Amino acid sequence: MALGDAAGGTQHEMGQTFAKLIEEKSGGDVSVDLFPNGQLGSEQDTVNNASMGLLDLSVLAINNITPFSPTVGVMTLPYVIQSPEDARTLTQGEIGQEMVDNTIRDAGVRILGWAYSGCRRLTNSARPVASPEDLDGLVIRVPKNEIMISAYQSWGVNPNPLAWSETFTALQQGVVDGQDNPYITIDAMKFYEVQDHVTDSCYVFSMEPLIMGEGMFQSLSEEQQQWVLEAAQEATDHSYEYLLAQEDAIKTRLVEEHGMEITEPADGEQAWIEQATSIWPDFYDSIGGKAKLDEALAALGREPA
Ligand code: MLT
Repeated sequence: MALGDAAGGTQHEMGQTFAKLIEEKSGGDVSVDLFPNGQLGSEQDTVNNASMGLLDLSVLAINNITPFSPTVGVMTLPYVIQSPEDARTLTQGEIGQEMVDNTIRDAGVRILGWAYSGCRRLTNSARPVASPEDLDGLVIRVPKNEIMISAYQSWGVNPNPLAWSETFTALQQGVVDGQDNPYITIDAMKFYEVQDHVTDSCYVFSMEPLIMGEGMFQSLSEEQQQWVLEAAQEATDHSYEYLLAQEDAIKTRLVEEHGMEITEPADGEQAWIEQATSIWPDFYDSIGGKAKLDEALAALGREPA
């Protein structure tokens, strides 16, 4: 199993939990080895490798699967998912099931379960950032993901798309000034060593699907498939509880132990929200039409777009 993040975060917790459960369910017949820290390639490479049967399993951020399975983008449009509850509602409902089917069709991999990592928070090494204008002159790394690139453009900056596996070094060498990821990921990746400021924003909620190559899944017996699905569902439930139990303590540790300074977004994040949600229509085609976004918003008890 490939993990894009270092040990200690939600991906690793998901991987360890799944590995333990599958070993128990199979009576020791199946074991899973974890390879954290992008050892098996960038997160986007692991999608191709799993689809070609070169890799069995990967846990990666949702934004790194969207380029291969564009309809998943409905869950990464800015400010659609606002909380862990929203993330669970979408992934565990009809929309989540549709994403599983679409991703098998479009990318040749099966989403078995989800790790929940929390809102993506903007970090940088230069200064407190409260408003989009404060980004002026900063070079921000984003994943190679059209939606996220476009969100930053709506805030008036041209971000630098870089693979996750190259991000720490780029921050350390000053090639980029900032990036965004959840508190748990900032901690697991030790970004506090190279970033001083965090903006407590929530433009995208990070979820990390556990995927298996569909060829691999179909090669398993029915009983083995059952073990895999059950272990993944239990690991998903655990991941949700893990996020709720850990996030606040990790946020406090980033400030108190690692000296990060947290800035609240100005005006309740209004300017960030207005500018970023203006890009939604640009992605209606790729997510399967405006109706798909409206379906997601309705599932979250919100008004249509
Ligand atoms: C990214 O920023 O590319 C990913 O969200 C990082 C991750 O997998 O945690």
